[in-house]
Amino acid sequence: MKPVIELEDVRRYYTMGEIIVKALDGVTLTISRGDFVSITGPSGSGKSTLMNLIGCLDTPTDGYIHIDGEMTLGMDEKDLAYVRNQKVGFVFQQFNLLAKMSALDNVATPLLYTGVPYRERREIAMSALKKVGLADRMKHRPNELSGGQKQRVAIARSLVNNPSILLADEPTGALDTHTGAQILELFEELHSEGRTVVLVTHDTDIARHAKRQIHVRDGRIGEAG
Ligand SMILES: Nc1ncnc2c1ncn2[C@@H]1O[C@H](COP(=O)(O)OP(=O)(O)O)[C@@H](O)[C@H]1O
Ligand SMILES: [Mg+2]
Repeated sequence: MKPVIELEDVRRYYTMGEIIVKALDGVTLTISRGDFVSITGPSGSGKSTLMNLIGCLDTPTDGYIHIDGEMTLGMDEKDLAYVRNQKVGFVFQQFNLLAKMSALDNVATPLLYTGVPYRERREIAMSALKKVGLADRMKHRPNELSGGQKQRVAIARSLVNNPSILLADEPTGALDTHTGAQILELFEELHSEGRTVVLVTHDTDIARHAKRQIHVRDGRIGEAG
C-alpha cells in the first residue's frame, strides 16, 4: 500500500529559557493508506507533539513530513491550512466544540473555509451527524449532550471534508469504558470504509484493536507486535 503519512528524522524541540525540551527527537515513520495505527506511551513522551505535526497543527524543528503526497516543508500557513483542512480530520480528548453553536453548526464549521454554499454545508453536516448516530441531536448545544455524544459530534466534524486521514488524540480519555468502547467501534467502522486512522490512547485494550501498534518513549518511537 502507498504511504499516506511519511516522517523522516523529524525533531520538535522547544526552547524554554536555557533548557531545550526534545519533545520529538528523530522520528522516522511510514503509515500506509488504510492502516489503523495506535500510539501509546507515557505522559510527556511526545504523542501529542507527533499527532500535531502529522495534522499540520505544528511544524517540526527539523526533518521532513509528507501528508497524502504533499511535502509540508517550507509550506506557508495558507498551504498548511489547506492540508490540515482537506487531508486530515482531527479528534481531541476534550472534544473542542464551540459551546454556543448547535451540533449541526459545529459539524459544518470546517466547511466555512471551502466555499461550499450554505445549503450544501447543512446537508453535508446533517449526513455526517447521521453517520455517527446523532440525527436526532442536530439542534442540541454541547452542554445538552453527553460526553459520548459530544465526541460523536467532534467525529462528525472531522469527516465533513472527507479526509483520507483521521487523527484522534486520546479520544476516549474523557469517557467511561463503555462509552469509550462505542467510540472505538465508530473509528473501526470509519477505518473499514478505507480511511487511515491514527489513534493515541492510554488504554491497552483499545491499542490492541489496531492493526499496528506504535510506542513512543522520550520522543522516539518503537513498534510492538
Ligand atoms: N508548547 C510547549 N512548550 C514547551 N514544551 C512543550 C510544549 N508542548 C509539549 N511540550 C513538552 O514536550 C514533551 C512532549 O509533550 P506531549 O507531546 O504533549 O506528550 P504526550 O502527549 O505524550 O503526553 C513534554 O515534555 C512536554 O512538556
Ligand atoms: Mg498528549
